[in-house]
Amino acid sequence: MEKRSLPLAADHAANLYAHVPSAWYVLGRSKEVRPGQVVTKRLAGKDVVLFRTQSGVLSAIDPYCAHMGAHLGHGGCVKGETIECPFHAFRFDVNGKCVATGYGTPPPPRAKNTTYELCERHGQILVWHGNAGEPSWFEVPEVDTTGWMEAAFEVAPLRGHPQETSENSVDMGHLPIVHGYADIEILRELRCEPGYLSVKYAMTRPYIPGFADLGRLYAEFFIHVYGLGYSRVEVWVPEVGLRSRHMVFATPVEREQLALHMGFQFEKYKTLDRLPRALRRIPMGLFHRALLHAGMASYVHDVKQDFHIWQNKRYVHPPQLAVGDGPVGAYRRWCKQFYPSVNGPAGADVGSGGVGGSDLSNDGGAAAE
Ligand code: FES
Ligand SMILES: [Fe+2]
Repeated sequence: MEKRSLPLAADHAANLYAHVPSAWYVLGRSKEVRPGQVVTKRLAGKDVVLFRTQSGVLSAIDPYCAHMGAHLGHGGCVKGETIECPFHAFRFDVNGKCVATGYGTPPPPRAKNTTYELCERHGQILVWHGNAGEPSWFEVPEVDTTGWMEAAFEVAPLRGHPQETSENSVDMGHLPIVHGYADIEILRELRCEPGYLSVKYAMTRPYIPGFADLGRLYAEFFIHVYGLGYSRVEVWVPEVGLRSRHMVFATPVEREQLALHMGFQFEKYKTLDRLPRALRRIPMGLFHRALLHAGMASYVHDVKQDFHIWQNKRYVHPPQLAVGDGPVGAYRRWCKQFYPSVNGPAGADVGSGGVGGSDLSNDGGAAAE
């Protein structure tokens, strides 16, 4: 029998984990940073300071003051339309330009802190990370939530990489095995576009997780992946007339460390006529609150079924694929655009903007080759 020695501790994940993919990443909810507030968040191994001016303009700024390096997130405060440093009270506007000193003297002409591209979508603050410092080259669209319950959110720390968690969207093979889904049917084939991927499928799942004998519910899932940091799934459950929306935002905070934002919301019922008779007597407001609670719990339960896999797996490329896997190969090819290529960064020319140049390792090599 052939014997082999244990392999050296080569890190096969090095190529993937060496890079933070270019993407919009969720740093928190818009309501976490009200006018006048300063909040420090973590992205790609760096602190990012968010502040919202008194008039409501949000800015994401490099934390270290251009004057002498104090951290704006530790004692900095909003003054009108600027953030004021706690050390010598220099003030910086939303574009990072120093507009005043604490002494009433002219600000140093070149004093400027880097600011990062940001947008607010669906009540979330998204900051652009350009793998090679390039500006954003795709968008995350706004979502119409008219008539919907406000989303519930939970953030969980998780070892992993945004490409690995997003791969779940196309990994059909794991759906029955990890989640107990069945009768999986592709309703619309995978479409891969610059910065955006979509696929639609249907499946059945137990009414109550783990109790398939108690009946199954048919649901349709329309998956929208905007880069590797922002995934949204529009769900339709015809049997009970339920339209819901599931969100997963994978934010790389450190090497191999994600903040995984999970969110759930649904369109409010106008009538409960399609529901079992016993439920129709519940006051509408109470029913909606209970459904938000139950729907969120069920969704988080399903996502967390993946956690022990993600926490312990390594990135294997190329994967040894089989019929039944789903379009994993097409997904991996689509992912290449988010990493630097031999011709420079994919998707855009090198420019300024984004939390770029902050990748988490010095070992080179493009991911997802
Ligand atoms: S270090 Fe910020 S004002 Fe001096
Ligand atoms: Fe999964």
